[in-house]
Amino acid sequence: MTSPMHTRITQLLGIDYPILGGGLMWLSDAPYVAALVNAGCMGYITPRSFASDAGFSQALQQCAELTQGKPFGVNLTLSSRPEANADIFRWMEMALSQGVRHFETAGYAPTPLIAALHDAGAIVVHKASSIRHALSAERAGADAIALVGMEEGGHPGTNELPTMLMGALALDRFEVPVVLGGGIGRGRQIAAVLAQGLDGVLIGSRFLVCDEIQTHRAYKEHLLDCDENSTVRLLQSLGNTWRVLRNDTARQIEAIERAGARDHADFGELIRGSTARDHAYALGDWQRGMLSLGPSIAFAHRIEPLRDIVRELMDEAHASLTRTASLVSP
Ligand SMILES: Cc1cc2nc3c(=O)[nH]c(=O)nc-3n(C[C@H](O)[C@H](O)[C@H](O)COP(=O)(O)O)c2cc1C
Repeated sequence: MTSPMHTRITQLLGIDYPILGGGLMWLSDAPYVAALVNAGCMGYITPRSFASDAGFSQALQQCAELTQGKPFGVNLTLSSRPEANADIFRWMEMALSQGVRHFETAGYAPTPLIAALHDAGAIVVHKASSIRHALSAERAGADAIALVGMEEGGHPGTNELPTMLMGALALDRFEVPVVLGGGIGRGRQIAAVLAQGLDGVLIGSRFLVCDEIQTHRAYKEHLLDCDENSTVRLLQSLGNTWRVLRNDTARQIEAIERAGARDHADFGELIRGSTARDHAYALGDWQRGMLSLGPSIAFAHRIEPLRDIVRELMDEAHASLTRTASLVSP
């Protein structure tokens, strides 16, 4: 493997490389998160992906076994609908009681959650899609910020700004380490983020083709055929922007939005999250479901172990930083 790199985020999280694998609904389970951790990165299990507390608890146990004492994390995504957040504090307690000390928080009004995690001695990376929200998370005690641009697969919020610009806007405004996410899938981009003065990156889409992600091979093979035009942002009309694969479902959603829909109910079953799990991920039927995905999928050319993707990213980042340094040497 490439030699470790030292930034404020590697020091804070105790990892070799400045790469965080963001939580992935239905997909960041124990094998995937353990693969991230064992490859020298940080990963976060998503409790919402499990049908029961027992399933989540088993995943925590399995991840602890697979990582053999190395720290791993849990993603706690707050919804704008309070009733959807009833479980969050229970999942937090479960994770804490099973020894987890790393959390990626995301979503709406995180201050009480960040405070509770801090009281428990946890390390919180708060993911935000605007500088304003990121600054308020820092004030609430977040130990690091993951700032995501509009390229992000999944829910980039109503932000219209691209990742690189967000990074430049963030410079010198935060005391805590900042990592950038959204559209990152090459080592040269990691080098550019570090050269900009930020502390690391957060990746989701580029990792979807790794061996350890438990989806049908036909879905992964379709991802290899995707390019930078294969994703689309939908549901802006609901203030709930979602970047997904362009497929039959996405085209139907687009048509309903164009016709003037203004309520979740107008989209019926089309936006049901479990369709992604039951059809695309389980059976390879990628035309069905809202399949969170960003344009960095264009950088994926092979289905391979996560460790190999990380190695390629870090080798390229090292080479790029070395080349960059040579530009200014006498
Ligand atoms: C399939 C998929 C599922 C995701 N699910 C979640 C989630 O449940 N919670 C969350 O905070 N972020 C989620 N995200 C966002 C990722 O954690 C991460 O922020 C994003 O993938 C980074 O941008 P990129 O896809 O351009 O690399 C998801 C992204 C993808 C691609």
